[in-house]
Amino acid sequence: MNQTPMEKYIFPYEIENFKDGRPWDSVRVGPKRYVVSSTFRDLASTFYNFELRSDDIFLLGFPRSGTTRCQESIWLLNNNLDYEKSKSIVIDERCPLLDLDMQFSTPLSLEYSEFQNKGTKHSLKKTVSPLKSLPKAPSPRFIKSHLPLSLLPPNLLDTTKVVYIARDPRDVTVSYYYLMKRMLPYDIGFEKFWGAFRDDKIFLTPIFEHIKEAWEQRDHPNMFFLTYEGMSKDVASTLRQMSEFFGKKYSEEEIRGLCEHLSFDKFKTNKSVNGEQTVLKTVDIINDSDCAFIRRGKVGGWEDYFNSEQLKESAERWMSENLVGTDLPFSI
Ligand code: A3P
Repeated sequence: MNQTPMEKYIFPYEIENFKDGRPWDSVRVGPKRYVVSSTFRDLASTFYNFELRSDDIFLLGFPRSGTTRCQESIWLLNNNLDYEKSKSIVIDERCPLLDLDMQFSTPLSLEYSEFQNKGTKHSLKKTVSPLKSLPKAPSPRFIKSHLPLSLLPPNLLDTTKVVYIARDPRDVTVSYYYLMKRMLPYDIGFEKFWGAFRDDKIFLTPIFEHIKEAWEQRDHPNMFFLTYEGMSKDVASTLRQMSEFFGKKYSEEEIRGLCEHLSFDKFKTNKSVNGEQTVLKTVDIINDSDCAFIRRGKVGGWEDYFNSEQLKESAERWMSENLVGTDLPFSI
């Protein structure tokens, strides 16, 4: 395996204590110092040297940016709107998460065993590592990754088509917090989570750097950059643009049908995409609707959770500091 230039940037780093003083072991990586699980040390080269095919289609985005809706759109647009197949095979199999191994590294796998004992229904241990299955998968491959561009193969954009979805980081913060609450058997509370997210101590932060890397490439002919907000405002128009990007043609009626399939209510009950079969869940939160994988689907819903003057101000400051001098498509 080749050495990667990024390996020299891996720093030992311990993340916020999430449980009884036992740290979730992480490292910071690359010049942007992204937080990744410590197994990245072993996997860095594998990601960096992942063998691409010219007909691969990649979907990238920070976790909780609306990647699943986008993933389903991409798969259907490139599979002749085969709803029957889409409903019979879970999205994670049709479009695997390249970095799944890294997300569920040793410390998280250990947590996971505890989850099992507590009665969690689904086992990720049964999941085949996408790093092992993808090299053998037939073309065209659909691949999702939460890694930023700089941690992926350097020839990605020149070789394959890439869709990147970004979302208002405040909405991502709230959505991410509830995902953690769903997955982990302890809850640090929203305020503490927000502090850690803002200070770039959560898995895959800093979020602004993640988005900026893709935004800088938005004019590359193989890059389709979109936002959750833009897609939510006009799903049909986003799908038309996406079809054009992939060189596909669909009638207005077909686009309407796809919009219906992607609607929040339909998505929530669609077992192939709603995460109920694949995303970890602690038994304690089963009745907490905020912990559903397909949760609220709102633009600007963050305001309900940043519910004190102090929280609102800190969010505003964070946005201003990070947006200054950029033309990122978010408003404060
Ligand atoms: P909320 O938690 O704000 O509701 P990801 O798929 O990247 O994990 O992103 C999850 C976010 O996208 C969640 O946001 C989820 O509810 C929202 N989402 C998923 N499917 C959606 C759909 N069909 N329409 C609108 N929002 C959707």
